[in-house]
Amino acid sequence: MDAELTLTVDGRRRTVTVDTRTTLLDALRERLDVTSPKKGCDHGQCGTCTVLLDGRRHLTCLALAVAHDGAEIVTAAGLGEDGALHPVQQAFLDHDGLQCGYCTPGQVCSAVGALDEAARGCPSHVTPDLGEDVEARTLSDEEIRERMSGNLCRCGAYAGILAAVRESAEAQA
Ligand code: FES
Ligand code: FES
Repeated sequence: MDAELTLTVDGRRRTVTVDTRTTLLDALRERLDVTSPKKGCDHGQCGTCTVLLDGRRHLTCLALAVAHDGAEIVTAAGLGEDGALHPVQQAFLDHDGLQCGYCTPGQVCSAVGALDEAARGCPSHVTPDLGEDVEARTLSDEEIRERMSGNLCRCGAYAGILAAVRESAEAQA
């Protein structure tokens, strides 16, 4: 069974007809030619398919496209404005937070989402005191590692990724 859905992807409104079993990742990559989110495991284990879906980070390989008709999606390719890199992307470059780059679009989207979660005061599994306000700019390395733990990097660029997210967190007001 097919269904028509409309998505706004990186600011562009797109309409596509998909089999109702199609994942959001496959709808983006195979039907809409949006290849910034990557397919790694296709099982929700690696994070490389992460996008911002209606403002929150989301694994597109675990989402059915039809469940998100009308959604607004921002991929790593759509994060920057006016041709400039998003500050988190710049931090990844400045800190060598990548090697082959395959995981990087997912890492960057996840970092943007994680910092927004912290800015909204969301605790993580390792937040020591749930009674204290969480602030993005004071996240410990342990907090950053935990909040980014859904994004794997087979190249092992974790030291640079941590430094990039830490710098981005410290830059948050
Ligand atoms: S491809 Fe989605 S989590 Fe790995
Ligand atoms: S930079 Fe190669 S998998 Fe992360």
